[in-house]
Amino acid sequence: MMNAVNDANILSIKNVSKNFPGVCALSDVSLDIRKGEVHVLVGENGAGKSTLIKIICGFHPGDSGEVLLEGVHYAPETPRAAMDAGIRVVYQEFNLLSYLSVAENIFFDHLPRKGPLVDKKKLHDDTVKVLRRVGLDVDPWQPVELLGVAQMQLVEIAKAISSKCRVLILDEPTATLSPSEISRLFDIIRTEKQEGLTVIYISHHLNEIYDIGDRVTVLRNGEIVGTKSVKEIDIPQIVSMMVGRQMESEYPFMDEFKQTDIPILEVKRLRIAASPHEISFALKQGEILGIAGLVGSKRTETVRAIFGADARLGGEILLNGKMINILTPKDAVEHGICLLTEDRKSQGLILDMQLDCNISLASIDKVSKLGLIDYGEERRQAERFTASLAIKTPSVSQLVRNLSGGNQQKAVIAKWMFSDANVLIFDEPTRGIDVGAKYEIYLLMWDLLSRGKGILIVSSDLNELMGICHRIIVFSEGQVSGEVLRPEFEQERILRYAYRVS
Ligand SMILES: Nc1ncnc2c1ncn2[C@@H]1O[C@H](COP(=O)(O)OP(=O)(O)OP(=O)(O)O)[C@@H](O)[C@H]1O
Ligand SMILES: [Mg+2]
Repeated sequence: MMNAVNDANILSIKNVSKNFPGVCALSDVSLDIRKGEVHVLVGENGAGKSTLIKIICGFHPGDSGEVLLEGVHYAPETPRAAMDAGIRVVYQEFNLLSYLSVAENIFFDHLPRKGPLVDKKKLHDDTVKVLRRVGLDVDPWQPVELLGVAQMQLVEIAKAISSKCRVLILDEPTATLSPSEISRLFDIIRTEKQEGLTVIYISHHLNEIYDIGDRVTVLRNGEIVGTKSVKEIDIPQIVSMMVGRQMESEYPFMDEFKQTDIPILEVKRLRIAASPHEISFALKQGEILGIAGLVGSKRTETVRAIFGADARLGGEILLNGKMINILTPKDAVEHGICLLTEDRKSQGLILDMQLDCNISLASIDKVSKLGLIDYGEERRQAERFTASLAIKTPSVSQLVRNLSGGNQQKAVIAKWMFSDANVLIFDEPTRGIDVGAKYEIYLLMWDLLSRGKGILIVSSDLNELMGICHRIIVFSEGQVSGEVLRPEFEQERILRYAYRVS
């Protein structure tokens, strides 16, 4: 078969608009998706990407306009109707039922039956087949809750392609994956594309556009800025289409701003669960210290143990030279140490509370007088952060649940920036955040440094670490395997430490 991409449109979106109370999420959007292409959708947080996807998937209707599926009017009233039409989606947040098995999750809505009963043998065999397609080797009867995030992601994809699937939509699928898992996902996409599948792909990792994309569409403020073949456009051009201005650099590093030699946080011979090694390092006042390492190198486990979220099996933690005893996260917060976790949904936010309450969650004292919350002050402070982090919301009274994925992440950051912590530990802080907003977050980090704080940042994005850190320590299998100072930053050198090759 020749390349399956041709000029026939599988989906035509015509003049679609969608409003939420106080928000115009999509305004007169028109877009064609060609049969057999990988169409990448990019745009800042809150630009309307997920909203557009949700209309195509029958999650909510548009206010006006029309969608054609292979030339025929298509207006799914429910997600089920979209699925029946062969439109499948893997959402930004997982939708698996954790207590069910892998097999039951994949075939949840079309379990094979023998009379009134589930045909267990067929369910097992079909599951094995589709798991093989996505390259996942797990027991079909294993409960999903025992899987890691990357495996869950693959189960989601298996679920999507397990039955008639004409258009596969992936909303930020790589946010939780490691580089090798990402390349596996891309292989799956390429293979399925050969079979004639059309893919709509949303991502904030702009370089991925060139790995798998055929065409790219940029959305800004609910409007289409343009659609281009990936061959005709480079990343700086895409960025300026996204943010509506030229961006000089991705990372603001303030050279004139030197860290001190005063250690603010010292970790000595720390021992964590399931690792025989001891970890020691120090964070200085006014410093951004990065922790690099492969997935599984125990970076997250280490910062969680420092914060008291996981057990510490041995070792000491010193704050400003004094030993402190942290047994729970509450102890850490009282000592002015905070942790922004990588999993914002379960650990960072209360989704059914307003944005302003979430921002002051860790700083109630600062918005209280004589033990009573001063709601006016709470609101003013929230507005200040909403403006400085450019959180897209009609007001600070919005429920956090209604914010776009990236804007929820910004809300977690605002929460910790507001708390008067002296040591801020960020675990993957900019995951799912667009380029413009990342820049704002880095600037706020510098502002914190200028006030004598120290920042420890775990990130899987090496360019980010090299862009913003004074110093990077590298983890490998639960040990500090190397340290690199800013003048010597070099990707290869850091990776050598991570893989422990000399
Ligand atoms: N259910 C809802 N109620 C109110 N507002 C909503 C709702 N869903 C989305 N919005 C708003 O619509 C706008 C577009 O959101 P959308 O989720 O489509 O953005 P996005 O481009 O996917 O962003 P991100 O990159 O952060 O995921 C945002 O301002 C968001 O707050
Ligand atoms: Mg989104």
